[in-house]
Amino acid sequence: MPVGEPLRRLASCASTNDEAAAWARAGAPHGATVVADAQTRGRGRLGRAWHSPPGANLYSSTVLRPPIPPRRAPPITLAAAVAVAEAIAAEGLAPELKWPNDALVDGRKVAGILTEMTATVEAVAFVVVGIGVNLNQRDFPDELAARATSLARELGRAVDRDAFAARLYARLGEWYDRFIAGGPAPVAAAWKRHARLFGRTVTVDNGRERITGVAEDLDHEGALIVRRGADAVRVFAGEVIDR
Ligand code: BTN
Repeated sequence: MPVGEPLRRLASCASTNDEAAAWARAGAPHGATVVADAQTRGRGRLGRAWHSPPGANLYSSTVLRPPIPPRRAPPITLAAAVAVAEAIAAEGLAPELKWPNDALVDGRKVAGILTEMTATVEAVAFVVVGIGVNLNQRDFPDELAARATSLARELGRAVDRDAFAARLYARLGEWYDRFIAGGPAPVAAAWKRHARLFGRTVTVDNGRERITGVAEDLDHEGALIVRRGADAVRVFAGEVIDR
């Protein structure tokens, strides 16, 4: 099913995820997407802010209406990450996916995904997939400079935002369809092809404790499997803080 239409373009908003969720509550169809030139309160995972200056990057949120129960929804974020990686690769770069859903180039973050779901126990009402991609930003605030980069900085040329977004929506639509038709396995396999984490020793902070072990696998629900001696620990949420 097509994604990226209908498309609402905003000069500025607090967060495109909030705009998309409000639109979904008012009846937006599957695929409806909000893009903004700037966000004043862009949100990242784990309650963090997402730096969203005007005129440079992609800030995009898409409404999806998967006909599945909420417990089956996590691979949608993996599908979005694969779509992001493919859109970046199509520009001529070699992105790496970092669990759970960051895209990195040369070890620095270029894109992040914030998925938010509204559901009952039985059914998903809608999912908002928020995607931020650093496209043409040249300078980053001091606190981000060591960890973030943009496609333009890596490529040495500007990236066309509309063309990038169109390719991203096409890939997102394809991977979403593949997930709905074929389940999570093909999505997880594609995600793993873009990740270089596996086989390495990592420390993962899951919000309650830090788990150090060898990143062994990604399961169909998007959980990271960390091998700690005889134990295989499934980590559902958090972040890799060291590797
Ligand atoms: C992360 O890596 O922490 C996720 C970042 C997600 C940022 C995007 S930008 C578009 C959408 N609107 C938001 O407020 N957040 C997401």
